[in-house]
Amino acid sequence: TTINAFRKDLLAWYDQEGRAALPWRQNTDPYRILVSELMLQQTRVDTVITYFNRFMEALPTVADLAAADEDLVLKLWEGLGYYSRARNLHKAAKYVVYDLQGHWPESYDDLQDLPGVGPYTAAAIASIAFGQVVPAIDGNFFRVFSRLLKIDDDIAQPKTRKVFYQAIEPIVDPERPGDFNQAIMDLGTTYMKTDNPDTLHSPVKKYNAAFRDGVEDQYPVKTKK
Ligand code: ADE
Repeated sequence: TTINAFRKDLLAWYDQEGRAALPWRQNTDPYRILVSELMLQQTRVDTVITYFNRFMEALPTVADLAAADEDLVLKLWEGLGYYSRARNLHKAAKYVVYDLQGHWPESYDDLQDLPGVGPYTAAAIASIAFGQVVPAIDGNFFRVFSRLLKIDDDIAQPKTRKVFYQAIEPIVDPERPGDFNQAIMDLGTTYMKTDNPDTLHSPVKKYNAAFRDGVEDQYPVKTKK
């Protein structure tokens, strides 16, 4: 099927050219995925790498973070801004360690009980750390899939997330959901980036309906607020 071929082409490209060396991709420890995803919510990958490594060196496990002084946590966050993320991260660690006795929530729904964890971050952790088959819909996903599938819904509307979720969920690779999601992120920051995308050489060009029809620049549809 087309979906099978798409997954195969996407993941073959990811295995060859994806950013496998990123420090949070070295294993699937949910703690590392949580920390990295919270840092990446408002900060660029290049900047996050240094902060992430320093954070992991100081507080290598969720139990270390739960037991840490808030001052240390904020100190490690210094420079990243949006300090509510650091406070939420600290609260989330305490919740997992003290309220759940160290047993992580594993589903997309339950992960959203963690402070600071919304639909995107829950899906990222569920798929990358726990192998749940859910799409982690961020700006990259809106851009990539609006073009591939010619989805005309306005991404500035909150209700549009559900349209994308329902369209993409059946496409996520059931055997490698975390890699699938991270491959879309890599695609969305390279061949299918916002400015000057190089669709002609994209590994999934042949599945791109907007490119085929010459209307790629019309996607994603986004009204100005
Ligand atoms: N941005 C958000 N999550 C990411 C991830 N896991 N890898 C690369 N960029 C990201």
